[in-house]
Amino acid sequence: MIPQLLERGVLVRRASPSDAAALQALVSRSDVMSRYSRFHGAVNRLPSSYLHLLVDRPASEHDALVVECDGRIVAFGDLGPVPNEPGVVEVGILVETPYRRQGLARLLLDELADRAALRGMHVLRALVLHDHVAEVRPVLGDRPVLRTWLDGAAHGFEVGL
Ligand SMILES: CC(C)(COP(=O)(O)OP(=O)(O)OC[C@H]1O[C@@H](n2cnc3c(N)ncnc32)[C@H](O)[C@@H]1OP(=O)(O)O)[C@@H](O)C(=O)NCCC(=O)NCCS
Repeated sequence: MIPQLLERGVLVRRASPSDAAALQALVSRSDVMSRYSRFHGAVNRLPSSYLHLLVDRPASEHDALVVECDGRIVAFGDLGPVPNEPGVVEVGILVETPYRRQGLARLLLDELADRAALRGMHVLRALVLHDHVAEVRPVLGDRPVLRTWLDGAAHGFEVGL
């Protein structure tokens, strides 16, 4: 359930327009490999079109959650529609290194997935770089795997919601 206050003052909530600068700051201070892993390219800053989707759209169009700790955004996750594929949403998650292995990605994914299912979505897609499949695949949980495929440097997964 969102907003959700976790231990140590960690807050999970929906992204809002006032988060734009903090989301850029999170991406900018992330290491190159994390950014590559998340965006599959050399991204130093979030493109304004994508940032706009994260902070300005209703959840029904593009759902984005942030994790806030000590006044900083330390993680975000989003689910956006896949064009021309009704019912399919694609996930992206970035967790700042010191906050990893604390269950934040799994929490973000579970919350986004539950919210998408309530909106009638039925397939969640994730594109994961081959080198990171072992660490990202578990985040998808034990949802039924509907399809997997290879896509250049990435591995595609579709799981049921
Ligand atoms: C992948 C990523 C989102 C995981 O975030 P996280 O908050 O550390 O993940 P969680 O703590 O929820 O981990 C859930 C499970 O995933 C697996 N996992 C996560 N990171 C792992 C790692 N580095 N090595 C091995 N397994 C890992 C584990 O099974 C873990 O469960 P456990 O801690 O109980 O063993 C984070 O490392 C990240 O932001 N990476 C860069 C961006 C990226 O790759 N995004 C995903 C593609 S969009």
